[in-house]
Amino acid sequence: MLHAAPGQSKINSGYAKPATLWRFNGSVPGPEIRIRQGARLRVTVENGLAEDTTVHWHGVRTPNAMDGVPYLTQQPISPGNQFVYDFNAIDAGTYWYHPHQRSFEQVGRGLYGPLIIEEANPIQVDRDVTWMLDDWRLEETGEIENGFGNSHDMSHSGRIGNFVTINGKKQAAFSVSKGERIRLRLINAANARIFGLDFQGHDPLVIALDGQPITPHRPENGLVVLGPAMRVDLILDMTGNPGESDEVIDRFYDGLTYQLTRIKYSDEVIRNSPPDWPIQLPGNPLKEPDLKTAKRHEVMFSGGMMGNMVARDMGINTTTSSSMMGMMHSKKIWFINGVAAEGHIMDPMLTLDIDRSHVISMTNASAWYHPIHLHGHSFRVISRNGEKTQYQEWQDTVLMAPRETVEIAFVADNPGDWMFHCHILEHQASGMMGVIRVA
Ligand code: C2O
Ligand code: CU
Repeated sequence: MLHAAPGQSKINSGYAKPATLWRFNGSVPGPEIRIRQGARLRVTVENGLAEDTTVHWHGVRTPNAMDGVPYLTQQPISPGNQFVYDFNAIDAGTYWYHPHQRSFEQVGRGLYGPLIIEEANPIQVDRDVTWMLDDWRLEETGEIENGFGNSHDMSHSGRIGNFVTINGKKQAAFSVSKGERIRLRLINAANARIFGLDFQGHDPLVIALDGQPITPHRPENGLVVLGPAMRVDLILDMTGNPGESDEVIDRFYDGLTYQLTRIKYSDEVIRNSPPDWPIQLPGNPLKEPDLKTAKRHEVMFSGGMMGNMVARDMGINTTTSSSMMGMMHSKKIWFINGVAAEGHIMDPMLTLDIDRSHVISMTNASAWYHPIHLHGHSFRVISRNGEKTQYQEWQDTVLMAPRETVEIAFVADNPGDWMFHCHILEHQASGMMGVIRVA
């Protein structure tokens, strides 16, 4: 049972007042749900908020009716009412849950939690640890700043907070032992912040992205990058010595680096050199897209502050993009193929033939980053700016840089109407959302 309700917690213990949060079962994050791959998940969600809600199982390939999108896949759960989510866990991996109703405020106030689907035969590690990353916009008093969904956040980079937490708290230190092998599951639950984590003296290996196994590799430039909603599973071998410590730095935004936490060694020694246990995860049962016969589709993202300028540079006609003045007076700030979505009831922007391979070529004709998420499917990211990606990674949320072009490929094997949107929740709320029908 997940019970969504308001409550008071101190986000920053240095402040006098607790913050008014919205929480699942009285905590932020909500309870970690852990089940075995192949098992059935049955969760009753009870709404103790003063407004409608739903729960979406981010990245999980559920049947459409269990996807938790208000009006599109279910009636929203009104205050005092319940809904039962019930589906099989097909894929192992690191996922999360969050409301899909007014997400920019409901997720922003703390309604989210981890969902871990364990492999039938998990790889061996000493500890399996989840870090759910988030940031908050706190006032001097420690209370959450209001102004969710304001037009400045919507037209720029979204609601970036001023206080970063791991599992709902500032974690000054993360205690480890020499020789320990940790599987670290990172989940970015922030509305808008992108993380670029530098583990410095520790040399993490990426073993999964968005829940899906990937060829184990060192992250590019040593930075573990997570856009909103993305997950990364790492293998971290603790190669330091008792008493030592090492900072974990977030370097994503130029000039705004800060220390996320510090890895701190206890006096204990588990072993003197890293174990030689295998780290390659078993694959999930995803259908391989056939690129030769795949049907091609084009998707263009535009809008936002400076959007007209970028689109002009890229030789793209922007007659549908709003002007600055128009932008400040309406919620139509972002466009997918020229359309700004309003609410969750939408005609499909694309219809994909079921059980066929599809390639979607996406262009970010804007001045901002966008983590683009498709429901009900995982896709391979096959190219960026026309160049084949090295790992052909499976993702459900792909971070697109300004002016970048990304191609994704997948077999549309899950019937229904699926959300396709930016996971910067302020962008989603101001138009950057569409529906893809699989039929
Ligand atoms: Cu994480 Cu459409 O959602
Ligand atoms: Cu966006």
